[in-house]
Amino acid sequence: MTILVTGGAGFIGSNFIFYMLDKHPDYRIVCIDKLTYAGNLSTLAPIMNDERFRFVKADICDREAVYTLFEEEHPDIVVNFAAESHVDRSIENPSIFLQTNIIGTSVLMDACRKYGVGRYHQVSTDEVYGDLPLDRPDLFFTEETPIHTSSPYSSSKAGADLLVQAYSRTYGLPVSISRCSNNYGPYHFPEKLIPLMIANCLNDKPLPVYGQGLNVRDWLYVEDHCKAIDLVIHKGREGEVYNIGGHNEMRNIDIVRLICHELGKPESLITYVTDRKGHDMRYAIDPTKIHNELGWLPETGFEDGIRKTIRWYLDNRPWWEEIISGEYQNYYERMYGNR
Ligand code: NAD
Ligand code: TYD
Repeated sequence: MTILVTGGAGFIGSNFIFYMLDKHPDYRIVCIDKLTYAGNLSTLAPIMNDERFRFVKADICDREAVYTLFEEEHPDIVVNFAAESHVDRSIENPSIFLQTNIIGTSVLMDACRKYGVGRYHQVSTDEVYGDLPLDRPDLFFTEETPIHTSSPYSSSKAGADLLVQAYSRTYGLPVSISRCSNNYGPYHFPEKLIPLMIANCLNDKPLPVYGQGLNVRDWLYVEDHCKAIDLVIHKGREGEVYNIGGHNEMRNIDIVRLICHELGKPESLITYVTDRKGHDMRYAIDPTKIHNELGWLPETGFEDGIRKTIRWYLDNRPWWEEIISGEYQNYYERMYGNR
């Protein structure tokens, strides 16, 4: 069994590769990644010499490179993590999101059609459903919730999802889609809320909370997401969408306070800054379908998961310090300098 994983030098893709090599010792994993600012080859260093693993630096939009790889590797399954993934960057510059997230998806699926594949799996997001109001805690996203996006990021992911469903219906491509809530855990790029707050706390820097910090996200430990994808690609029904989430809704401000508390830092570091444009209020997944059909349940509770995550950032300072000492500084200045 050969699995082609795209975007495997990023946060969730790398965690997925580690999980799969461990869980399925007889599988071969081929990773294609463009190594954008978010891709980090040092993350994959421990498996670079593993003969079950191959890394190829390429853009999923590069048709020739993708077709060549399919000819060489004949993957049985393709799992597409590769994406531009940060909402704030999509507000700054949407076009690369359309390119990678939509065009890249179509190139991968064209290759799947041309060379044949048992399953094309699209890693999507709960953000395609838009947001829910804070005063209706009874509402959740199900797979039937209409797509209704807010940001260029979520719109590009929704566009890709629609294209995946079109390839399924028009060409009979064997596809599946998973829509997960916010992930956290090791190797999370420090521009996202949780790793950014941990890194800033450790450096005694201000903790920039957007608006009043009342927005709610539904946090899932990354390994639970990986387990869910493993189930969907092997046992999930063709053509189906599966929502993934662990009923763990938290307000941003409570997460930031918790991180301060865990690291013994004062809450006076918290700085309220101008809100994100079009900021989604609340995400909340109903994971009933994946639970009933595939028996999936999250295994890591938030208290345990956030402690493990903080521990990982304490134990792996060089990994994130190298990131924040580079081009990231320009990004940070642009994004937070005048806020
Ligand atoms: P990430 O930004 O950490 O990693 C993305 C990876 O894709 C990087 O390694 C990058 O180099 C690579 N990449 C980007 N453009 C590419 C291109 N054109 N060709 C090849 N490689 C390219 O993202 P992540 O947080 O790991 O997210 C992975 C996937 O999961 C994305 O599709 C995202 O939409 C989805 N998702 C993320 C979350 C979350 O909380 N992070 C939640 C739900 C869904
Ligand atoms: P983020 O990690 O960017 O994920 P997403 O927007 O895809 O859910 O942000 C999570 C929440 O944290 C979101 O409501 C925006 C907020 N946020 C801040 O308040 N400050 C920050 O510096 C960042 C990056 C995010």
